[in-house]
Amino acid sequence: MTRVEPPRPSDAPFLGVGVGLRPVHYREVLERGAQETLRVDWFEALSENYMAPGGRPRRILGQVRERAPLALHGVSMNLGSIDPLDETYLRGLAELVARVEPAWISDHLCWTGVDGRNLHDLLPLPRTEETLRHVTRRVTRVQNLLGRRIALENVSSYLRFEADAGEEWEFLVAVAEASDCGILLDVNNICVSAHNHGFDPLRYIDAIPSQRVFEIHLAGHSESGPLRIDTHDRAVSEEVWSVYAHAVRRLGRVSTLIEWDDAIPAFPVLEAEAQRARNILHETWREEERDGTAHTRPAAGRCTAPAVASHHGA
Ligand SMILES: [Fe+2]
Repeated sequence: MTRVEPPRPSDAPFLGVGVGLRPVHYREVLERGAQETLRVDWFEALSENYMAPGGRPRRILGQVRERAPLALHGVSMNLGSIDPLDETYLRGLAELVARVEPAWISDHLCWTGVDGRNLHDLLPLPRTEETLRHVTRRVTRVQNLLGRRIALENVSSYLRFEADAGEEWEFLVAVAEASDCGILLDVNNICVSAHNHGFDPLRYIDAIPSQRVFEIHLAGHSESGPLRIDTHDRAVSEEVWSVYAHAVRRLGRVSTLIEWDDAIPAFPVLEAEAQRARNILHETWREEERDGTAHTRPAAGRCTAPAVASHHGA
């Protein structure tokens, strides 16, 4: 029996499986990109690393963008904070977006600083009506300024607030619906928080509307006493792979990214992780591809042409 493809957001094209662009891999990415031997389909770049106009990082990003589709991922939008939105940051991001034309832009459903101080951590928010209204106003403001929707990523957490009025997935979906933004679903973060707070990760996945999911993140985590920590310093765990397989069965062909930020390995290790994700995507949707009912499929073993995304504003 042919399964029907779940609805997907029109402004988040399926790019296949990518990896985070990290300076330690610049040379190999550019050399192998020129030889067309890269075994990743797209890249995600950390916005803050490329905000300064000119210079080597911006030049390299432009060269990578000529070779492969690119998404921009930020860690400093500070959407949950009570500080005013940082207009200088947002103008810099808008300039970068105009320059590299990313497939989409993402940041986190969290706060990262207050009183003008950046704490350089992705901190959880109390899940209340007041927070929902506050974050929705700010996401709407950002989307209006950028002239397009953004995707919000779920962060991992190690504590709950007494004020929490519902489950994390309910809050994430409520913010996405109220601000009409996308969701970047980090499956590793779900598994980390599921362990730390004692919920079923599949319940989380099953509550997410497929038409809002722009992207999936996969990463490694570590353990410290009773907690799992979102360290991004190792391979994706077997449990996360299995929850990912459930997610692609339910959500359809979602662009997927391997994140590895500490103890970064040689590039072929990332390519092998990407291939495993690609295999799961292919395996899950093979029947539809054979029947010719697939919309798109990942380009295994090669670097695809730059994507032309159709964006719609907020
Ligand atoms: Fe992530």
